[in-house]
Parts: sequence; structure tokens; C-alpha cells
Amino acid sequence: MTINHQAELEALRKIGVIVAEARDTMGRAVEPGITTGDLDAIGRGVLHKHGARSAPQLAYKFPATTCISVNDEIAHGIPSKRRVLAAGDLVNIDVSAELDGYWADTGASFAVGSVSARDLELLSVTRQALAAGMREARAGNTTRDIGHAVEKRAQRSGFSVVRNLCGHGVGRFIHEPPSVPNTKAEGTRTRLWEGLVITIEPFLTTGASTYYEGDDGWTLRTPDGSRGAQFEHTLVITKGEPIVLTLAA
Ligand code: CO
Ligand code: CO
Repeated sequence: MTINHQAELEALRKIGVIVAEARDTMGRAVEPGITTGDLDAIGRGVLHKHGARSAPQLAYKFPATTCISVNDEIAHGIPSKRRVLAAGDLVNIDVSAELDGYWADTGASFAVGSVSARDLELLSVTRQALAAGMREARAGNTTRDIGHAVEKRAQRSGFSVVRNLCGHGVGRFIHEPPSVPNTKAEGTRTRLWEGLVITIEPFLTTGASTYYEGDDGWTLRTPDGSRGAQFEHTLVITKGEPIVLTLAA
């Protein structure tokens, strides 16, 4: 969507802070022995407390409140009380939700206990790739400038960018145009304008740049078992630095 009125910005700020609170509350609970179903219940509690509704449930009938993806699962993992996290795992938590007709989307990856040095680096570089993309996110630049910045940061550290998983417009629905790719070559080039609301969400891995859909019809996995990380913010394009809506309050 494009923000035209202050009231729209305030409504988006509200849902942005709620999904950020869910993300961070779940992230703090990550430890060996907890299940992804337990984490989802924590996220559900936060959304419920604020009267917000799960975006994947509402929009796509996803069978849980949040998406939780472990290790070689890149995205759209289904939380389960049978999936126990162990030290050395990487877990991605993606929270998107709706309140009063406004939608926001955020994600972050976490180390479970102590992880390998390369996995720690993957987390740090993916976070930096998001920051690099955000530095290009201003009116007059294009979606391709964002993708190029993300890709350059990944390549500098020898990580791969997963293709065909992109950021997107958001605000009045969970997925709106334009697509915001994480590489230079992908997709069409859209010029960004003031007030446009988008997500940026680089997916980086220690190997694969492709994925396949698992048997459950949701979970996306790397074909070679390489591990992935993702960080995502919802932001508003301005002439200068973007307004980040999904920071902790
Ligand atoms: Co998203
Ligand atoms: Co998301």
C-alpha cells in the first residue's frame, strides 16, 4: 500500500510493534528442549493479547499462528509440539499479522544454544544483508538496488541468496506488489516512491540458492541440506531513511 494519511501510518505502527513483540518474545524463549509448537503458542499469546490475527492463517489457512523453520528449512515451517529444538540448531521465526485491516510482517533467525562459527556468521551476515538492503530503500531507487545490495553482502562472505523468495509490498494485505528481490538479476525493476510500504527479507544459506517444497505442502527446504537464515522488517519508503515499523517498542 501507499500511505497517504497520518492515520494509516499510525495503524501500521501499531501492528508493526505487535509483530515485533511476538518475534522478540518468541526469540527470547528459544533454548534447547523447547518445541516449535511451544514457541508458536507464545506468539499466539502475544497476538491474542493485542487482538491481532495471524496473517498466514487469515490469508492462506496456514495450520499455525507463526512460521517456524529449523536448519535446512528455509521458510513456512509448521510449528509442532513434536519438533524439539536442540543445541546447534538454527531457527527462523516469522511473524505476520493483521489488526483493524492493517498488516505487518517480520522475521528473525536465532541460534539454539551454541552453534558453529559458520552458522553464527550466517546469522550476522544475513542481518547485515537486511541492513544493506534497507540503506538502498528510498524514493527514486529501485527494487533492484535493494536486491543488488543484499546479494553483494551475501557474496562477500561466501553465502548464497535463495532465489524466488522475495520481500513484498504489504499493508492492506500480507502480500502486495511490488516484489522485492534479494538479487540483482531477478524480477522486474520497480522504482520506489514515498509512502510505499514494503518488506525486505533476505534468505541466505551456507550452500543452496534453490529450495523445494516438503511433503506437508508448506515447508520450503534446501535440496542439499544447507542451513538458512532470514531477517525481515516492514518499512515505509521516504526520500531519506525508511521508517522501520517492526522494531521493538
Ligand atoms: Co514477508
Ligand atoms: Co515474513
